[in-house]
Amino acid sequence: FGKKITYKSSVKSTQEIAHSLAREGAPEGSIVLADEQTGGRGRLGRAWQSPAGTGVWMSLILKPNIPLQKAPQLTLLIAVAASKAIEKVAGLEAEIKWPNDILIKGKKTAGILTELQAEADSIHSVIVGIGMNVNQQTEHFSDEIAQIATSLAIEGRQTYKRAEVIGVLLQEIETLYRQYLENGFGVIKLLWEARAFSLGKRITARSVTGSITGYAKGITEEGVLLLEDDRGQVHSIYSADIEIPSP
Ligand code: BTN
Repeated sequence: FGKKITYKSSVKSTQEIAHSLAREGAPEGSIVLADEQTGGRGRLGRAWQSPAGTGVWMSLILKPNIPLQKAPQLTLLIAVAASKAIEKVAGLEAEIKWPNDILIKGKKTAGILTELQAEADSIHSVIVGIGMNVNQQTEHFSDEIAQIATSLAIEGRQTYKRAEVIGVLLQEIETLYRQYLENGFGVIKLLWEARAFSLGKRITARSVTGSITGYAKGITEEGVLLLEDDRGQVHSIYSADIEIPSP
């Protein structure tokens, strides 16, 4: 991975560039990196703050030969790789909040945005966007964001070389991805569950269609979250925001 790198100092979003490259036939493993994004995108239509030189703002093109409904597995795979990379580079314990938030001490340090280019039922390309807060200090965050977000530098009390973070991250992704293509989702599922922040906890899953509170029981083979409500009914959650309700 990373043999074909497109680097830009400032872009709207690395996702848009990666989408165009993929449409033009860019090979698997191509990456797009930027120092700054002026219109960084998060999940569920949210913005992702990507100030110059502070974090890793990267999009990676994958071309897995898997059915469309297994695509969410890739988000979980990347989340495991990102949390392993944080542990390797900074020696900090990173947890994963379903599906894709990487937390250090309960605060968000990285996020993943998986987007698909598909033809009929088959995947043409997966564009994996990874945003990781590396060298921000608290004052870089707006007051509102500072309550819920952190960076490697804040937690590790030192700055880190972004190039090193990118190198380790790509290595972790490539290793897990090869293992996944060869052996399937089983090992990734175990690794994910071992790092899961919300499993076994009482959570609220909030989406545009409403919210459900219950116990997070686990994830399925497809990477869907299973939530058991107070009547014992188990719900499959495909897309939502997870909150831990206050007692
Ligand atoms: C989230 O947690 O909501 C996902 C955040 C994903 C941010 C990354 S930064 C690189 C890539 N380009 C974007 O515009 N978004 C992703």
